Amino acid sequence: MTVTLITGANKGIGFETARLLLAAGHDVWIGARDAGRGAKAAAELGARFVQLDVTDDASVAAALATVDAEAGRLDVLVHNAGILDTNLDGPTALRSFDTNAVGIVRVTEAALPLLRRSESPNVVTVSSSAGSFWAVTNPERPEFGLPIALYAASKAAATMLTVQYAKAHPGIRFNALEPGTTATDMTASFGIGRTPAESAAVVARLATLGADGPTGTLQDENGTLPF
Ligand SMILES: NC(=O)c1ccc[n+]([C@@H]2O[C@H](COP(=O)([O-])OP(=O)(O)OC[C@H]3O[C@@H](n4cnc5c(N)ncnc54)[C@H](OP(=O)(O)O)[C@@H]3O)[C@@H](O)[C@H]2O)c1
Repeated sequence: MTVTLITGANKGIGFETARLLLAAGHDVWIGARDAGRGAKAAAELGARFVQLDVTDDASVAAALATVDAEAGRLDVLVHNAGILDTNLDGPTALRSFDTNAVGIVRVTEAALPLLRRSESPNVVTVSSSAGSFWAVTNPERPEFGLPIALYAASKAAATMLTVQYAKAHPGIRFNALEPGTTATDMTASFGIGRTPAESAAVVARLATLGADGPTGTLQDENGTLPF
């Protein structure tokens, strides 16, 4: 059975991705920073729960140690946890980068020993086209006018980390994606987006790519996106 860990999976796109991957036969671990919310979400789906705060080294280490003890390896890792804060100041910058970018480093580094024990290791980063230099400098793209500087910058870092990890670990697939504008708690104040289930299908597609799939790419539901 494919062993899969999804960070920030207690709600939104991560939760619906867990549902799809369970249906595809994966043994899914729901990572959530809040034990109550995470355990409730896991029980609802019939998934496993592990406490995992991507901003906390000890929490990340404990979470991967739990997966290691129970499953002995990790086949699919989905970096989904993220925050969007429209403020532009030092503390918001630190929080945004800590969650959206540094969190990827923490979880990847802790997961690498487990991923190396997989026959077909696959890491998917739920990034954003708001972090694409191509999109934000193209007046014809919606990302051009978005006033979300720290989110965009931290997602650019998330995509770059994905590319750097792909280059450093040719035996592991690392791809980043834009899931599509989605109506979740993150975007509630904008009142936009499609259902989380629709966007989760984009995540699930990359999470179920075979060993001959691409690595080091940024994709959306239509295929490869320019960086
Ligand atoms: N919605 C969109 O239109 C859109 C577009 C492009 C990309 N994305 C990306 O898609 C991903 C999922 O977002 P969403 O729209 O589903 O938003 P969401 O419903 O707000 O879900 C975000 C998830 O991340 C978790 N999280 C936040 N900080 C965390 C931390 N420090 N440690 C662990 N988990 C943490 C949240 O947990 P709590 O419940 O504890 O807060 C929640 O489970 C994000 O990376 C987001 O940037 C979304």
